[in-house]
Amino acid sequence: MTIVIPMWEGVQRDKLSVAAGILKRGGLVAFPTETVYGLGADALNESATRRIFEAKGRPADNPLIVHIAEVEWLEKLAKEVPEKAWELAEKFWPGPLTIVLPARDTVPRTTTGGLDTVAVRMPAHPIALELIRLSDVPVAAPSANISGRPSPTSADHVIEDFYGKIDCIVDGGETPIGVESTVVDLTSEVPVLLRPGGLPVEELSKVLGEVLIHPALKGEKVDIARSPGMKYKHYSPNAQVIVVEGNREKVGEKIDELVEEYRKKGFRVGVMATEEHDADEFFYLGDSVEEVARNLFKALRELDRRGVNIIIAEGVDERGLGMAVMNRLRKAAGYRVVKV
Ligand code: TXA
Ligand code: MG
Repeated sequence: MTIVIPMWEGVQRDKLSVAAGILKRGGLVAFPTETVYGLGADALNESATRRIFEAKGRPADNPLIVHIAEVEWLEKLAKEVPEKAWELAEKFWPGPLTIVLPARDTVPRTTTGGLDTVAVRMPAHPIALELIRLSDVPVAAPSANISGRPSPTSADHVIEDFYGKIDCIVDGGETPIGVESTVVDLTSEVPVLLRPGGLPVEELSKVLGEVLIHPALKGEKVDIARSPGMKYKHYSPNAQVIVVEGNREKVGEKIDELVEEYRKKGFRVGVMATEEHDADEFFYLGDSVEEVARNLFKALRELDRRGVNIIIAEGVDERGLGMAVMNRLRKAAGYRVVKV
């Protein structure tokens, strides 16, 4: 049975304590964060975290992010906390930043996907923070979607994937950022960006100085052992996604060309873009990169629901949040990218 708890008008402690009780007893609770919904379990309870992997159909070597509500909890999870980590926490937590550090032995290796490192973040969502505080345990939470599907930015998306399969869903409305947290690895001499996300890498560099961009993010074939999540299929709707990127004016023309080409072949074609296009289905992404990020996963799920076979997506400029947007889009497309 899945309990759905509506909570649209801010934190309600009495209702949240029900969800916190479920977490404490080893259950699964989906909850909103500022990035996307997470599927939470007690990070220190091995059988609880194992249930996350089962529910999502997630490969066991893809580690979970551990969510905390107080900065000091970092020391309960990480063996060593370098000065840089405290600086990042001070500046960006609570917020869309995940920090990878050497893990304490008390963190189950189910949580870390077998690695000796642990990924930690403090989410900037009042419901998430209060839920973690009330449960009084660090909460492991991957995005609350079936593995490989677009991440959930509303409780409806979570219900779509998990109703009847998890214990509780806290419905806090739509998530404000819409793409997942930025993941940075501090276990090597020079910090490495493992996943672009809600905190632009430009901001990270202001604190860390040089930040290496993991080569896999540039589309190079490399050893992905460091962040196993990189090797799996991601963010995919049922429809085939094609990303069109490059010169803005030409992108618009190319999208129209592709719509015509695929319609002639008998496909139902959807377009998601920042300017209107004629197609079987159209989803307006918004006119700022923040809005595009907020709408991205919703657009992929929504166009699927409307039954298109092909989704043609307009690429955005890669600065700021654009880097996270393009990373998700290219993955959703299985790297089917048309450059103009
Ligand atoms: O915004 C977010 O980060 C959301 C919300 C719920 O907080 N969570 C999320 O979790 O996106 P998930 O599991 O979908 O993505 C976690 C990413 C994966 O790419 C995983 O490989 C990486 O973080 N990761 C987790 N632990 C790691 C570790 N110890 N070393 C390297 N990468 C790690
Ligand atoms: Mg995910």
